[in-house]
Amino acid sequence: MNTDTNTNYELLTKQLESLLSGERNLLTNLSQFVALVYNNLPELNWAGFYIKGAEEQLKLGPFQGQVACTTIAIGNGVCGTSANNKESVLVDDVDQFKGHIACDSRSRSELVCPVVLDGDLWGVFDLDSPQLARFDQHDQCGVEELIKVLIRSTDWNV
Ligand code: SME
Repeated sequence: MNTDTNTNYELLTKQLESLLSGERNLLTNLSQFVALVYNNLPELNWAGFYIKGAEEQLKLGPFQGQVACTTIAIGNGVCGTSANNKESVLVDDVDQFKGHIACDSRSRSELVCPVVLDGDLWGVFDLDSPQLARFDQHDQCGVEELIKVLIRSTDWNV
């Protein structure tokens, strides 16, 4: 029951390339990326990065939406699972995902895609929706493509 699978990711990818062209600053590009996604994908209540920090933890990075959990252990929750496996995780119903971390009680479904640089985990990009089964394979592939643009448009060694 996904009513919003019509996002034109090809167009959004081109918009992102244009938005980031001529700018390679990490914080700037992460912030622009989140704002573009949050304002162009319907039915989201949260979008943002969790960035790998010390001691196998993810720390909250640039985001849009309500204030969120600041620290997630790698391996915990949807974000920590994606980070641990370096793979995207699609959750149709967060109540059915064992260990889901509820930052915003409105979230019903979730998509988390890892950001992997030269094989190493840098962090994850997390999307939450108040709609059950909001995300599907089309969204996963589209967001993974957007992340590829972000990776090649940005200087990560800061
Ligand atoms: N639900 C996530 C936590 C992050 S918030 O959704 C912003 C999880 O289970 O990892």
